[in-house]
Amino acid sequence: MNGIGYHGHFMNVLGIESSCDETAAAVVASGPCVLANLVSSQVETHARFGGVVPEVASREHILRIGPVVQNVLDQVSHVDAVAATIGPGLLGALLVGAQFAKAFALARGIPFIGINHLEGHLAAALLAPEAPPFPQIVLVVSGGHTHLYLARAWGDYTLLGGTRDDAAGEAFDKVAKLLGLGYPGGVCIDRTAVGGNPHAVELPRGLKFHPSYEFSFSGLKTSAANYLATHSLSGDALRDFCASLQEAIADVLVHKTMRAAKEYGVKTIVLAGGVAANSRLRSLLDERCAASGIRGFAPPKALCTDNAAMIAMAGLQRLERGEQSPMDVPIRSRWPLAPPLPRDPRIKGRRA
Ligand code: KG4
Ligand code: ZN
Repeated sequence: MNGIGYHGHFMNVLGIESSCDETAAAVVASGPCVLANLVSSQVETHARFGGVVPEVASREHILRIGPVVQNVLDQVSHVDAVAATIGPGLLGALLVGAQFAKAFALARGIPFIGINHLEGHLAAALLAPEAPPFPQIVLVVSGGHTHLYLARAWGDYTLLGGTRDDAAGEAFDKVAKLLGLGYPGGVCIDRTAVGGNPHAVELPRGLKFHPSYEFSFSGLKTSAANYLATHSLSGDALRDFCASLQEAIADVLVHKTMRAAKEYGVKTIVLAGGVAANSRLRSLLDERCAASGIRGFAPPKALCTDNAAMIAMAGLQRLERGEQSPMDVPIRSRWPLAPPLPRDPRIKGRRA
């Protein structure tokens, strides 16, 4: 990254994120440097429903977006461009942030740039003290996504595989719900697992040795549900169960990510998305990387879960390449970040 931006000078980009249940705004300057970063989480609002209610999320975004952006602008008044998530995500939720950003850009006469939320997660790693070099194998693991990409350069991605059923974050959230641990479940399980024995409960590693780069977490969820139907857990047993669940998820994710790095001869692995904040996933990647000459990177924990600094950073990357979006760019509830690999004839009916 050269730090030179739009019109060839340093610039500040305002980022706006509203694709799910976080209303967020941030300003990132060329360099890069996070000048302001605010996340207003709706977790409390949705907690009593045990998950995100789309209509409630849209209304909350409408209430929060003005004050959140104002707070960030009180810290940094000068912005040269505005970037907002335009997909994938909840349509009503996306609409609030995207429309706000477009109106803001028009009012100030500055460029607007629509960002793919997944690319935002990838950009979070560029905000770490040491940015990971390309090419990279990137594992995006969040509440809605479990995708493995080969990233040759910024903007040049191939999808190696994704989940066949639940996302990794969904598996954490659903099991946490069964355990009565609260929402969002990943953080609760991570916290409860501290000091637990990761090998206490045997849980399945779906598709770990399948030749594709696909994942599956529904079997794990069913196994966990069956186990919990016959065991009532507290204290050490609960800690052990959470540690075992975390181990099972981290083991499959790291195993396949390392395999991709080896197959494609890539020396850099990047974790992204909310589940990348998981302590065991991070430590297991470090352990296995140390033994293989591959380097593992993960964004700072606060930048793994949804935030607007990552959206501003993705915007900065695109603006530095002379890109911006037309005002009529549509929002998209579904929006693949990259084309999948062609079908692999060795693997019946499945992608390579
Ligand atoms: O990226 P994110 O904030 O939102 C989406 O784009 O989905 O990811 C949220 C997901 C939730 O499923 C949450 O349980 C999970 O990330 N998560 C974690 C941790 N922190 C958040 N999962 C495991 N361990 C964590 N520490
Ligand atoms: Zn996300």
